[in-house]
Amino acid sequence: MILKTLGRIGFGSMQLTGSGHWGAADDPENSIRVLRDAVSAGVRHIDTADAYGPFTAEKYIRKALHPYPDDLLIATKGGLTRQGPNKWAPCGRPEYLRQCVEMSLRRLQIDRIGLYYLHRIDPAVPVADQLGVLSDMQTEGKIGHIGVSKVNAEQLRVASRLVTVAAVQNKYSIADRHSENILRHCESNDITFVPYAPLATGALTSSRALGKLAVRYGTTPAQLVLAWLLHHSHAIAAIPGSRCSAHIYENIAAIDLSLTRDDSAAIDAAVSSPTSIGWAGQE
Ligand SMILES: NC(=O)c1ccc[n+]([C@@H]2O[C@H](COP(=O)([O-])OP(=O)(O)OC[C@H]3O[C@@H](n4cnc5c(N)ncnc54)[C@H](OP(=O)(O)O)[C@@H]3O)[C@@H](O)[C@H]2O)c1
Repeated sequence: MILKTLGRIGFGSMQLTGSGHWGAADDPENSIRVLRDAVSAGVRHIDTADAYGPFTAEKYIRKALHPYPDDLLIATKGGLTRQGPNKWAPCGRPEYLRQCVEMSLRRLQIDRIGLYYLHRIDPAVPVADQLGVLSDMQTEGKIGHIGVSKVNAEQLRVASRLVTVAAVQNKYSIADRHSENILRHCESNDITFVPYAPLATGALTSSRALGKLAVRYGTTPAQLVLAWLLHHSHAIAAIPGSRCSAHIYENIAAIDLSLTRDDSAAIDAAVSSPTSIGWAGQE
């Protein structure tokens, strides 16, 4: 299972680009610093995509971290094109995906991508063609493991017939469990589940009920919900995103927070509390 290589808490780089995940960050030096701090603090799994910027996050990663530590795994993705801030559209034509992989290799200045996700399955292109070209590039040694992102159960079943799916990256947090069935499938099939937006894009960190509970535990809301994820499933490798080194240190420290079943239930109850969490149930 690739989870051993990824570690249980990595780092998501999507927030390191400009507004709407478009263009350069307001403070590119901060993005570089944050990446270096994450790796210095022990992160060994950095999640990115050619679409973040586009291309910006991958360039920051190379600038901040090349030459890379031997045990650092950079997971990147291809197959989502950009039309402007917060605009994304899939393109799964095999010749385009081949170019995506080649360009990520060049931007990151590596010979092989440890984990490469098909960012979205393009409904306009046969899945066998999309995963077929990634499989070819795996055989060529340019991709280590193949992952899929934002998939439903049927898409995952089809993908698993075509390639060895090492990781699934779907939206999932204590507040959004639409992918629970996918998570359970991953657990039973030695697939690592990488929940994206594990902090509900930051909303969970300002929950009053979680805040109160965190004080009792001598911890923080972010640490509670990250620890809850790790306790919830042994297949999870989380990738919280942040532009703030202090938050990254805090998030990594969640690994050391071991929960009992009762602790986990208390966190669950705090998140479900309708009086204190205005965001619950929202997309
Ligand atoms: N596959 C896909 O389609 C897909 C889609 C979305 C995201 N992703 C990946 O998943 C990663 C994580 O998702 P995400 O970044 O969207 O959301 P997230 O990790 O749920 O939340 C990030 C937000 O939480 C805040 N935050 C982080 N740690 C905190 C802490 N300890 N205390 C308080 N606030 C904290 C950050 O603000 P600060 O900067 O202030 O810390 C940021 O605004 C992305 O970076 C990306 O790599 C993948």
